[in-house]
Amino acid sequence: MRKDVKIAPSILAADFADFGREIQAVEGQGADWIHVDIMDGHFVPNLTFGPALCKAIRPHVKTVMDVHLMISPVEPHIAAYAEAGADIITAHYEATHHSHRTMQAIRAAGCKAGIALNPSTPAESVEYLLDSVDLICVMTVNPGFGGQSFINSQLQKIKKLKSMIGSRQILLEIDGGIDTETAASVVEAGANVLVAGSAVFKGGSADKPLVYGENISAIRNTFKN
Ligand code: DX5
Ligand code: ZN
Repeated sequence: MRKDVKIAPSILAADFADFGREIQAVEGQGADWIHVDIMDGHFVPNLTFGPALCKAIRPHVKTVMDVHLMISPVEPHIAAYAEAGADIITAHYEATHHSHRTMQAIRAAGCKAGIALNPSTPAESVEYLLDSVDLICVMTVNPGFGGQSFINSQLQKIKKLKSMIGSRQILLEIDGGIDTETAASVVEAGANVLVAGSAVFKGGSADKPLVYGENISAIRNTFKN
C-alpha cells in the first residue's frame, strides 16, 4: 500500500452538527489529514465557516489540520486561521494579486504555505513560487461545492507540476472529485495528497465509522503497489 500518499477527508461532506465526533471517527479509520474548506460566498458562490469553527474543532484533530481558504481578500484573515491552529494554510492563486507575499505571510504566521490553482489556471503560474511554498493544490473541480465531477484535463497539469517540483519538498495535493474511479490516475500523475469529501463520508456516520474505513481503503486499494 502506498503510505506515502495521504488521504485528507474534507469535512464539507461530514455532519455539520457533529464535527468533533466526525473527525474522531474518520481519523480512527485511517484519515491522514483533516481538510477544512473555508468559503466566503464571494470568491466562490458557497459559504461555509470561519476561524471560530477551526478553533473549535482543533482539539479533535490529532493529525494535520489542512485549511483551504477559498476567500478573497485572503491576507487580512491569515493570522486568524493560524491562531485557530491550522497546520497548513492554502490560499488561491486567483484570490490575490500578490501570491508571493501571501505565501510569505502564511509562513511568517508559523504555518506551512499552500497555493491552490483553479482548473483554468496554468501550472506555470507557480513557477516563481516554488521556493516559497510547501504545498500545491490542484483543483480538479471548480471550487465551491462538494460532489462534483473530476475534470480530466487537470491530469496533464498534475504531471507538469510534478516535473516542475523536481526534488523540492513540496506536496502535490489534488482536490475535487477524487473517488475509486479517479484516485489511481492522479497518483500515477504524481499526486501525494488526495482530498476526498463525498467518497469518504458517503454511507457512514460517527455512529457507523467502519464505513469511513471501508471507503478510505477502497480509495487506497486503487493505487496499491
Ligand atoms: C471544493 C472543495 C473540496 C470538496 C471536495 O470546493 O475544495 O475540498 O469538499 O469534495 P468532493 O470530494 O466531494 O469532490
Ligand atoms: Zn478543499
